[in-house]
Amino acid sequence: MTAPFRDIEQVISRFDEAGHLLDEGTATALYLACTLPRPLLLEGEPGVGKTASALTLANVLGTSLIRLQCYEGLTAREALYEWNYQRQLLAIRLAESRHDRLEDADLFTSEFLIERPILRSVTATGPVPPVLLLDEIDRADDEFEALLLEFLGEASVTIPELGTFASARPPYVVLTSNRSRELHDALRRRCLYHWIEFPSPDRAVRIVRRRIPAASEPLVRSVTDFVGRARELDLDKPPGLAETIDWVAALSALGVTSVGRDDALRTLSAIAKSPDDVDAMTELFEPSEGTA
Ligand SMILES: Nc1ncnc2c1ncn2[C@@H]1O[C@H](COP(=O)(O)OP(=O)(O)O)[C@@H](O)[C@H]1O
Ligand SMILES: [Mg+2]
Repeated sequence: MTAPFRDIEQVISRFDEAGHLLDEGTATALYLACTLPRPLLLEGEPGVGKTASALTLANVLGTSLIRLQCYEGLTAREALYEWNYQRQLLAIRLAESRHDRLEDADLFTSEFLIERPILRSVTATGPVPPVLLLDEIDRADDEFEALLLEFLGEASVTIPELGTFASARPPYVVLTSNRSRELHDALRRRCLYHWIEFPSPDRAVRIVRRRIPAASEPLVRSVTDFVGRARELDLDKPPGLAETIDWVAALSALGVTSVGRDDALRTLSAIAKSPDDVDAMTELFEPSEGTA
């Protein structure tokens, strides 16, 4: 299989064209993940662009995105495959009505198989392999990780009744984690790893400007400055890029060109997500301190 990117610069420029500004480290991780190819585990605080990296990757590769949002209680039946019991039951009744007898082998065939995201990514036949996003893997129970090991290591899925499904061209796999818990070594070993840093103020300005071209430079700068100062407070939920983008969008929609105290307090709900955080951030706007 030919590698989809010539070099790291091309990853950066293709993502840039799609409105996503990559830093060198993330671009390198994506380049290697696509070239080797190997699953890529992206970790970082909420809102640093982990999910967006996978969405943009599918976009620039011109391929489909298969997304599995992880949650507590997620099982193989939702992630890998399950048997269509209703159709099996129907087939048994039909056979009975004809005085036939069905063997197990008749019931556990691909006709009765429901493909879930991971198996679907293996059996996909499009011109470019799909991007499989296993999003927020830290939300799933840790036993769930064991279900992924075969797939992450060999890009295959084994169904006891049917055998092993493997793809000549494995999907591009991105896993994300907000690090709400440690992931197992066995999973980490099978992936390339990259920690996405929260962007520097200058990069944050460039990212927000790409996302909301209508917003003025002074507005974007004053908002990212403020968010930078807010992130130094001891907050329940430090504002990330998503909140910064939302806030600029809100202020820009209100026709604000540089964020002052009144505008800020009116719209603080875009970045402050708990009463305590509202209070803490409001203090940053005490009149003596002027505006951000
Ligand atoms: N480097 C970037 N360039 C452009 N937009 C970005 C970048 N990083 C994050 N974003 C935007 O910030 C928001 C939050 O990103 P997201 O991928 O949801 O974060 P995470 O998955 O890490 O919690 C999204 O709207 C995303 O498009
Ligand atoms: Mg995400």
